[in-house]
Amino acid sequence: MARVVVTGRIPGEAVERLRAVHDVVSWESQDTISRAELLTRVQGAEAILSLLTEKVDAELLDAAGPQLRVVSNVAVGYNNIDVAACTARGIRVTNTPGVLTEATADIAMALVLAATRRMGEGERVIRSQSPWQWGMFYMLGMGIQGRQLGIVGMGQIGIATARRAKAFGMTIAYTKRTPLDEPTARELDATHMDIDELLATSDVVSLHCPYSPDTHHYINAGRLAQMKKTAYLVNTARGPVVDEAALVDALKNGVIAGAGLDVFEHEPTVHEGLLALDNAVLIPHLGSATVETRTAMANLAATNALAFLDGATPPNLVN
Ligand code: GLV
Repeated sequence: MARVVVTGRIPGEAVERLRAVHDVVSWESQDTISRAELLTRVQGAEAILSLLTEKVDAELLDAAGPQLRVVSNVAVGYNNIDVAACTARGIRVTNTPGVLTEATADIAMALVLAATRRMGEGERVIRSQSPWQWGMFYMLGMGIQGRQLGIVGMGQIGIATARRAKAFGMTIAYTKRTPLDEPTARELDATHMDIDELLATSDVVSLHCPYSPDTHHYINAGRLAQMKKTAYLVNTARGPVVDEAALVDALKNGVIAGAGLDVFEHEPTVHEGLLALDNAVLIPHLGSATVETRTAMANLAATNALAFLDGATPPNLVN
């Protein structure tokens, strides 16, 4: 029996699977665990199931102790984990790709529609009981049929978003280190571009790249200025991929037309400038937030940890 520490509340089914064979310390509160509590709880853990809200850094690994062997993140993005520090200590890291692809692509497409059709702004008019009336020129947005969606980072979620956008009549451009395989490129009728061409030609730019030091502020003032004035930016990846202050300036000054954001640079804090802007649709990191998806993510994280503790190779190793 290994000591398994779960750092946040996850669907019970996954906890029960772990508990059936290991000594599990779970966190049952709805609130995020405090850092101090976390550092105490991880002591003696051989496996940690971490949520993206917990920073798994050298301090935490040291607090856990030398018996720690695996960190199983309940998320596909693992920028909350210092993978190099784990590797240096011989600790394996796993994530949960695949199971949240469709849910996240749904949210990306929802933000494309919400931003271009001014749904946040419209909802605020109704909820504030402001006067309004149907009008030929009232609250017009941009139609997406025949418009180009530029996908930055064409992994599984980018591809799933492209499929949706194609069904809505959009054309697809994308950046990716190595172009898509021929059948997928043909299915999506997708054009491989470098970032400069993609930004200059797209009507909506949707971010699907992982966050790492390489992609910190990847979308900065200069890149926003490369976009069309009529274009929209959608971010369902990670907040710090975008320089949020530069985005506020761009949205305020008509450098781009609007944005749809599911993630924020300093989550859960949102830049005050964004709150004041009608052309930004803001939702609280809901990409994978369906009952089905969260259950699947927790189960996959449990499977990864269980496999490792059983001496097998976990399906989703990242180091
Ligand atoms: C969610 O943001 C994830 O990375 O799983």
